[in-house]
Amino acid sequence: MMDSYTPRSVKVLERFQETANTVTLRLGFTATVQASDYAFKPGQFNMLCCDEGEIPISIAGASEQGYFEHTISILGRVSQHLSLAQQGDYLALRGPFGQGWPLDKSADLLIITGGIGAAPLLPLVNHYLSNPHWQGHLYLLHGIRDEENFLFRKQFEAWQGSDKATVLLSANRATDTWQGEEGLVTERINDLPHLDFKKLTMLSCGPEVMMKDAIKRLEEKGLQDENIYISLERNMHCGIGHCGHCQIGGQFVCKNGPVFAYPKLKRSLQLGL
Ligand SMILES: Cc1cc2nc3c(=O)[nH]c(=O)nc-3n(C[C@H](O)[C@H](O)[C@H](O)COP(=O)(O)OP(=O)(O)OC[C@H]3O[C@@H](n4cnc5c(N)ncnc54)[C@H](O)[C@@H]3O)c2cc1C
Ligand code: FES
Repeated sequence: MMDSYTPRSVKVLERFQETANTVTLRLGFTATVQASDYAFKPGQFNMLCCDEGEIPISIAGASEQGYFEHTISILGRVSQHLSLAQQGDYLALRGPFGQGWPLDKSADLLIITGGIGAAPLLPLVNHYLSNPHWQGHLYLLHGIRDEENFLFRKQFEAWQGSDKATVLLSANRATDTWQGEEGLVTERINDLPHLDFKKLTMLSCGPEVMMKDAIKRLEEKGLQDENIYISLERNMHCGIGHCGHCQIGGQFVCKNGPVFAYPKLKRSLQLGL
């Protein structure tokens, strides 16, 4: 068993250039014993390490063959360095860390994501859609800046074909080829069919302003606080609840989150912490 501070070596098995500033790295452990030691829950993250430092990145996918995927958008020094990793290079990681999404919901789910915020929800959507016993329906609302920055396109297109899912896409700026709507993703809430919002569970990850707007609109329709789950981003250092860098109110985003039941955070978010 590895401790939470010791990075494990991983090899870049494949690299996909998603957009001009975003790549997906398919990674595999270099030792069999480490691979068998590794299991994650949808919504958890790894601390990905390179020569420039380490940053939290959501686990966007995994396979039974033992690899898993991280989609990284370039923001600053570390993400830029990680994005340059090539097939065959070695990186290191610590994790998986944090609390994931609820996996045992039986009723309908509404998932609202923006941009790269869809990453931690990809394994969750697959979890529910691949469960033959799950009786609910998935409503997926996803917002992007424009078509050039449409990450995870293949996944959303595949889910559009599922009779257990309804996908509504929105771009802030529509181009001629764009087949979704133009505008804020939260405006698509009005395009949902008639639903019993009191029984619906909402899960969201993306810009905080988007999540707050979604919650406001949905609460007006009857969504209950206890049925809301959101994933938060904060600057992190240790990733395991020791340094205090990621604290919001009395909660550590790395350890008590990143996925939170909304009632735990409602007051801190309202205070703008
Ligand atoms: C749980 C979690 C999961 C994440 N998953 C992904 C993912 O799947 N893909 C992805 O591309 N990114 C993800 N991020 C964000 C990613 O960790 C940051 O983009 C990264 O830390 C930036 O590091 P950097 O050295 O490149 O930039 P820096 O030079 O450290 O940062 C550039 C600027 O962004 C700010 N910043 C950095 N990190 C954060 C943060 N976490 N929250 C708010 N502001 C920040 C800095 O203060 C600075 O102003 C996730 C973050 C968290 C907390
Ligand atoms: S990153 Fe250190 S406490 Fe969360």
